[in-house]
Amino acid sequence: MSDGQGNTLEETYSVERTKWDSLAREKVDVSKIQMEYTDFDDYAHRLAIMAGVVEFLGPLQGKQVLEIGCGLGKVSVLLAKSGANVTAFDLSAGSVDVASQLARYHKVDEQVHLAVAAGEILPFPDEGFDIIFGKGILHHLNAQLGASELYRVLKTGGKAAFVEPMGMNPVLNVVRDHVPYKHKNPRGADIPLSYTDIRNWTAGFKTAEYHELQLFSMLERGLGFKHPLPALRRLDKVALKHLPFLRRYCRYVGIFLTK
Ligand SMILES: C[S@@+](CC[C@H](N)C(=O)[O-])C[C@H]1O[C@@H](n2cnc3c(N)ncnc32)[C@H](O)[C@@H]1O
Repeated sequence: MSDGQGNTLEETYSVERTKWDSLAREKVDVSKIQMEYTDFDDYAHRLAIMAGVVEFLGPLQGKQVLEIGCGLGKVSVLLAKSGANVTAFDLSAGSVDVASQLARYHKVDEQVHLAVAAGEILPFPDEGFDIIFGKGILHHLNAQLGASELYRVLKTGGKAAFVEPMGMNPVLNVVRDHVPYKHKNPRGADIPLSYTDIRNWTAGFKTAEYHELQLFSMLERGLGFKHPLPALRRLDKVALKHLPFLRRYCRYVGIFLTK
């Protein structure tokens, strides 16, 4: 099976594992991983790209939540701190190892169940989860395989939310590929989403909505600002409402699904 770029799935996995395992090796001391948020609600309300996620997903207390592509496990820990019973997985064994240490360090290891797995072949039973969440993960996966797995493991009536980079802004794509900036990760085999990709991930769900995020305000990150720049946020609101053709050039998209 190919990833649509002419590489086999195994070749893609190899590139991704090498990259993320090596980044995980830099984080062996989990006490140094900054956890500046009290729980998932706090995190989602303070991160611009997570706009609307908490309101869509609703209360997490007691819910079976699957996190796809958990990386170092920061979000898994925050989901557990919000009362969810979390299952989380990642392709990178090194990342999952750090995630399991992080869960122990924050004393939520009984609520966080971790696995090394690929998003295209989920080792979970049908309809096992009330909620599925993923941040920056769908664009690493093969939608042809991953979308049906996503649908399969979500309960009927369950909800899924994703926040993903979009790849339709040519200037942003050049920056991603060629311009160094602070906290930039090296590119792996990921391909930021197009509208076709979004359609492929959302097909078949009872409801599917998405909203594009960060047009002018993407400059906050690019220019190294740690705080929101209210003028850019206001400009985004007006531009994205009144000039819809600009939405495709946004940096991120929030995708909200109900089965
Ligand atoms: C951009 S990181 C996001 C990690 C985490 N969600 C976060 O927000 O910090 C992408 C993650 O996807 C994982 N990944 C890449 N391909 C994958 C696949 N086919 N199945 C599962 N995880 C994958 C990588 O190992 C990496 O941890």
